[in-house]
Amino acid sequence: LSSSIERLKEKIRTIPDFPRPGVMFKDITPVIGEGQFFRLILTIFISRYQKKKIDKIAAIDARGFIFAGALAHALGVGIIPIRKKGKLPYKTYELSYKNEYGEETLTIHQDAINKGESILIVDDVLATGNTAHTAALLVEKCGGNLMELGFLAELSYLKGRERLFPFPCYSILQF
Ligand code: PRP
Repeated sequence: LSSSIERLKEKIRTIPDFPRPGVMFKDITPVIGEGQFFRLILTIFISRYQKKKIDKIAAIDARGFIFAGALAHALGVGIIPIRKKGKLPYKTYELSYKNEYGEETLTIHQDAINKGESILIVDDVLATGNTAHTAALLVEKCGGNLMELGFLAELSYLKGRERLFPFPCYSILQF
């Protein structure tokens, strides 16, 4: 397994200065574009989460949807989109945060979670953690219990895990 994780890691390419100068963008399209790698990611997530009590998966716009949808299907649970402002049609809670590019606002439907439900948040990359932290607060605002945040890749040098503390956090790959 460790050699296949190494190959997975090598498949994620770094694009300098995208989408803005100074940003080192982790491009996951090479891994999701090949069935063996996409399946490996899902196999790892499924083995970690299949025995845990999870009522719903909350997925972060936009690349989190790719993994969260497949994982929700495998676990037989529902999926909640946490979307950028202006995309959700019903009543929302919203929260703004700073990212590498400026300010961003995430939103969630107010009725997305029943009080006390156990929620797993999924996204592709944990960088500074500001996005995921905002998603975690929105889940709590809706009455959910955040079981864990799960990522394909973590940029450890940006200390997102510390930003998320004390929320439990897991990543398949670390850069
Ligand atoms: C990326 C990534 C995470 C977030 C991580 O999303 O998919 O959601 O940034 O950054 P942070 O830990 O520093 O907050 P992006 O904002 O590029 O949106 P996208 O998935 O819609 O492209």
